[in-house]
Amino acid sequence: MPQRPYVIDEMISAKSIAARVEALAKEITKAYRDTDKLIVVGLLRGSFVFIADLVREIDLPVEVDFLEASSYGNAMESSREVRILKDLRGEIAGKDVLVVEDIVDTGFTLHHVVNLLKSRGPKRLEVCALLDKPSRREVKIKATWTGFEIPDEFVVGYGIDFAQRNRNLPHIGKVRFLEEPAGA
Ligand code: IMP
Repeated sequence: MPQRPYVIDEMISAKSIAARVEALAKEITKAYRDTDKLIVVGLLRGSFVFIADLVREIDLPVEVDFLEASSYGNAMESSREVRILKDLRGEIAGKDVLVVEDIVDTGFTLHHVVNLLKSRGPKRLEVCALLDKPSRREVKIKATWTGFEIPDEFVVGYGIDFAQRNRNLPHIGKVRFLEEPAGA
């Protein structure tokens, strides 16, 4: 299906993101200071840029693992049905875990993933989300740490896509559709 034409308006600059990531990493380092190893679990694919920046600012022994849950596909609306497409490689029982998510929107994805991982008996499990859209929430869940609360806008960049595009933007921008010319 051809994509309607759109532009991307900057919402959060690369500089603001970097400053916030540094601050989040400091809080995370402090919270887990007694751990001998922190397992950082990135939710693919949207968190891959965020997790890369975040782990480099965390001053602890860190192991990185990834989990992929189905979300929007190519649409702009949540399917509300969460499936695990790729599971963790490692065990998390008895370990200190930090789940890293790009956006908490309806909350279905995070709720499902947190319940699944908690059922595996980690010693501690917290969540760090880069973005939160609280006005969209349908399931009661909140990340331990949030980078930025944003309004109900569809955003892209810094790892986050629209139909698999725009992940390579250094900033976060909102998608604005252009009017179709009459008769198009
Ligand atoms: P939730 O299950 O509705 O909370 O959706 C979470 C997932 O939907 C996120 O991890 C993103 O992959 C995707 N998502 C939610 N909002 C946006 C957006 O504004 N842009 C791109 N993807 C989004």
